[in-house]
Amino acid sequence: MSEELFPVPGEWAASAKINASAYDERYARSISDPEGFWREESQRIDWIKPWETLKDVSYNEADFRIGWFMGGKLNICANALDRHLETRGDTPAIIWEPDHPDTPGRTLTYRDLHTEVCTFANVLKANGVNKGDRVTIYLPMVPEAAIAMLACARIGAVHSVVFAGFSPDALAGRIEDCQSNIVITADEGLRGGKKVPLKANVDAALEKTPADTVIVYRHTGGSVGFVEGRDVWWHDAAANASPECAAEAMDAEDPLFILYTSGSTGKPKGVMHTTGGYAVWTSMTHEYVFDYRPGQVYWCAADVGWVTGHSYVVYAPLINGATQVMFEGVPNYPDVSRFWNVVDKHKVEIFYAAPTALRALMREGDDWVTKTDRSSLRLLGSVGEPINPEAWDWYHRVVGERRCPIVDTWWQTETGGAMITPLPGATDLKPGSASKPMFGVQPALVDPEKGTLLKGAASGALVITDSWPGQMRTVYGDHDRFFQTYFSQYPGYYFTGDGCRRDEDGYYWITGRIDDVINVSGHRMGTAEVESALVEHPLVSEAAVVGMPHDVKGQGIYAYVTTNAGTEDSEELRKELVQWVRKEIGPIATPDVVQFAPGLPKTRSGKIMRRILRKIAENDTGNLGDTSTLADPGVVDDLLANRPRT
Ligand code: PRX
Repeated sequence: MSEELFPVPGEWAASAKINASAYDERYARSISDPEGFWREESQRIDWIKPWETLKDVSYNEADFRIGWFMGGKLNICANALDRHLETRGDTPAIIWEPDHPDTPGRTLTYRDLHTEVCTFANVLKANGVNKGDRVTIYLPMVPEAAIAMLACARIGAVHSVVFAGFSPDALAGRIEDCQSNIVITADEGLRGGKKVPLKANVDAALEKTPADTVIVYRHTGGSVGFVEGRDVWWHDAAANASPECAAEAMDAEDPLFILYTSGSTGKPKGVMHTTGGYAVWTSMTHEYVFDYRPGQVYWCAADVGWVTGHSYVVYAPLINGATQVMFEGVPNYPDVSRFWNVVDKHKVEIFYAAPTALRALMREGDDWVTKTDRSSLRLLGSVGEPINPEAWDWYHRVVGERRCPIVDTWWQTETGGAMITPLPGATDLKPGSASKPMFGVQPALVDPEKGTLLKGAASGALVITDSWPGQMRTVYGDHDRFFQTYFSQYPGYYFTGDGCRRDEDGYYWITGRIDDVINVSGHRMGTAEVESALVEHPLVSEAAVVGMPHDVKGQGIYAYVTTNAGTEDSEELRKELVQWVRKEIGPIATPDVVQFAPGLPKTRSGKIMRRILRKIAENDTGNLGDTSTLADPGVVDDLLANRPRT
């Protein structure tokens, strides 16, 4: 990786909220005097009742618990909307940019958004939703997604947003896991000119897992099935609802949302976040990472179906009184200038996206970028996966014309907000490094095998030594799984699942997952999930899935499949299996390679040696390491000989 240094531009050092010395001073204080530091930072939130105890945390199995701002009461929706009405009620909160540029967009001011949210909160109540109930949201990137989430938060219901690209089966699993009785969806989604049958997907999901109510937002106007007594049109229900709804006083530790994410084993986990710590953490990180000041136009291109959309589209920007662009479409429709045309149209100053989109655009050549103006841009952000130095350089040089710092923010669904990241006025940038910890975050590296702490410049497993306010609080319905997944491997630490290098300047370089999670286009996918989808196919007896390097997606999905005896391993079956996984999970889980494998490399005790499968998938077959424990070494020769060309 390049070690070139890009110093903080002079005007940023002079004008940013946090410059280099302020970073050092505040970071030190956040660790030495957390009480004082967080007392000040928590003032950014309007508390209905002030908190009494800063934190109540133990990472020991016997008394395992995580809590912040204990005793405090607040409503995060009131923080995102009501408190802005007096000062910026008529300021645009969401500028919605539709899939096609010729379709009229929408602008919702803080007052508009407040009215819509209160109205929809009353719709939820009228449909029997109470505080603590789980509400599944399966919506495209339309303002109604934010409205539905905020309406839940207003009345203390717990939202579970399911990305609108997931299949009916994946949706059903998530509805069932959190015992949600209500689903909010749209007739259809629209992405890159293609319609996504959301309501039909919900109907299919509910055949497996019934729900009492489905609220349907009319978006494209496409025809949909309607179940009397269960389905309700959003606009009909809203027409009868009052636009006034008091915000519920929530305990700091009351659940705010559940968001399912892939882990190394089993089915996706319901990551649960609570209210007070998440509000403080997302708002603080958003303000400092983006040096955000009200009035600036901010655009986070993430979908609300992922954590980035929760924290940096819905909650933090609105808490901070931001004006933001919300984009329904995709970067290459109607052509690959779209991102930059949207930047120009809305005079976007701060732009935050995933490296996979940048790599895809980079391949199309610079003209698509340079023919646009982009002079409004001041700051660029990256999230979701390691950004390779080539993509960093292109983003910096071509998109940002060397003018805009890049904040490469490392974090996770579990962490609620940015954990290791440059601050634009404080951090000299090294392309490919997420650089330095956010206030209150104490990263450390441990030896992956021995678990011992590594000092100075080193490489190891990335852990966080203490709690921070935005930390997830549990795996919904399975607190023991929460402990076992994150706190049992390296006792006393939160284990991130990532590998990392720390250089001599104390900069962190995330090297990627070291567990059985792969990161495809910035989206997390558990190898176990894809495997279980494959073995559900009637002709498949066994499957093993690993990551492989991919130019655009970062990582691709490589599946080794053993079919039942007597099955013909045909090209047709290969295609069928690819479609099968898409149907079972969704298009983001599409395998890039399916290799038929008469046998998988296993130890004598029957454990699949994934290390070998990874090497073959990476085409790094010169040194497969120790194969002496294999039950049948011949299996490997066969895999090598039959490796499909990729
Ligand atoms: O491997 C890391 C990678 O994405 C994982 C978290 O994925 P998810 O929970 O879906 O959240 C993504 C959005 C925050 C991490 O364990 N990752 C995320 N950001 C970066 C990253 N890897 C390298 N650099 C980053 N900036």
